[in-house]
Amino acid sequence: VSETGSLSIIVLGASGDLAKKKTFPALFNLFHQGFLSPDEVHIFGYARSKITDEELRDKIRGYLVDEKNASVKYEALSMFLKLIKYVSGPYDSEEGFKRLDKAISEHEISKKTSEGSSRRLFYLALPPSVYPPVSKMIKAWCTNKSDLGGWTRIVVEKPFGKDLESAEQLSSQIGALFEEPQIYRIDHYLGKELVQNMLVLRFANRLFLPLWNRDNIANVQIVFREDFGTEGRGGYFDEYGIIRDIIQNHLLQVLCLVAMEKPVSLKPEHIRDEKVKVLQSVIPIKDEEVVLGQYEGYRDDPTVPNDSNTPTFATTILRIDNERWEGVPFILKAGKAMSSKKADIRIQFKDVPGDIFKCQNQGRNEFVIRLQPSEAMYMKLTVKQPGLEMQTVQSELDLSYMQRYQGVSIPEAYERLILDTIRGDQQHFVRRDELKAAWEIFTPLLHRIDKGEVKSIPYKQGSRGPAEADQLLKKAGYMQTHGY
Ligand code: BG6
Repeated sequence: VSETGSLSIIVLGASGDLAKKKTFPALFNLFHQGFLSPDEVHIFGYARSKITDEELRDKIRGYLVDEKNASVKYEALSMFLKLIKYVSGPYDSEEGFKRLDKAISEHEISKKTSEGSSRRLFYLALPPSVYPPVSKMIKAWCTNKSDLGGWTRIVVEKPFGKDLESAEQLSSQIGALFEEPQIYRIDHYLGKELVQNMLVLRFANRLFLPLWNRDNIANVQIVFREDFGTEGRGGYFDEYGIIRDIIQNHLLQVLCLVAMEKPVSLKPEHIRDEKVKVLQSVIPIKDEEVVLGQYEGYRDDPTVPNDSNTPTFATTILRIDNERWEGVPFILKAGKAMSSKKADIRIQFKDVPGDIFKCQNQGRNEFVIRLQPSEAMYMKLTVKQPGLEMQTVQSELDLSYMQRYQGVSIPEAYERLILDTIRGDQQHFVRRDELKAAWEIFTPLLHRIDKGEVKSIPYKQGSRGPAEADQLLKKAGYMQTHGY
């Protein structure tokens, strides 16, 4: 990390799930790869529980080591844990944040290099209801006060609100305290390797340039599946549902990268300008292009009401009303408690006109980008079946990362994105107008679901979701291919 001076990373909500499972492990990985220098960095945990530094370290220790980093664990782990201090206090108390500021300032004095700038990164691993008071307290008591430069930045996690109105309210409250370049709205899908590869793939390959449009592409699917249910998160989940949890943010962000025009340059603002244009071109979702599902047994969770209509599965078709995409369905599909854990982008091409081989019932060309697990890209092609007969068969051009890039470890999304926040690169973060446009797309449908006007269909755990979703795909023109 190129800037110098002290760097304080403050994780608010330090004993929560997100901090333990994602934020601290990402910081640890950055540390042992040398991106966070012990000469500059200090990490602070802040939360309500009254625990000691050592107790916080004990809580997170088990999440920091896995097979991947086991060999370095003893040395790096104890060095890393020593950098962590804990301050306890409520999320709306002057007193608590004054103490936090004092702890940060002491660290800054001890770590100051000759430039003496002070960099303060606040990571809000908290529910959005406390964003406003916490941001107020940070602004009032904890911002960088060094005359010698530096910065104060805040990282906020989804859900950013529940609908357009609440999201805008949240944005205004935070926007009144911090400038847009200080606010990092994290969507961890933007940190995934193959999501980051999307623009390279599209704009650095001549092959795709003439094909990437309504003349050649029949439909696009962006699919997320998990093979487990809400598992103890029922209370949170029931308030939000799968559209707010996955589709409105993660899948929609991926859609932007698949559908956007070429940006003027790679500057974050140029890229985000193009993403906003895609979102603004999406036309209202029709109820007949939505299938919602809820897995059987979801309501057994005591925190979920018996009559909950909250979807744990949804397929929605988005239509982009512009020159490139008119008429091409973008099918966004997400589900919990499904048959497998998988996320991919599937771009299905149109049939070949004048098919002399009469082979089109074997399947179309389809370009699949597997985001996880086992990152890969493959193109389904029709080829001659090897042998004496002239028979055709579907095969694949396959780029599996595990085989092609043996020995290269793919960074975790959170690692990459936290490094970006320290470097001041907002390319992979959601801008305020992007967030607004994303909520504009889904809010009317979400309100209809909340009122029970669009119903969730029950489906079996471990299945493909409701059969109605497959029928919708068929109606949208998706041609099922082998093995999918
Ligand atoms: C989170 C959702 O944003 O993403 C979770 O809140 C979901 O419900 C998770 O499990 C999936 O992330 P990943 O990286 O495992 O696909």
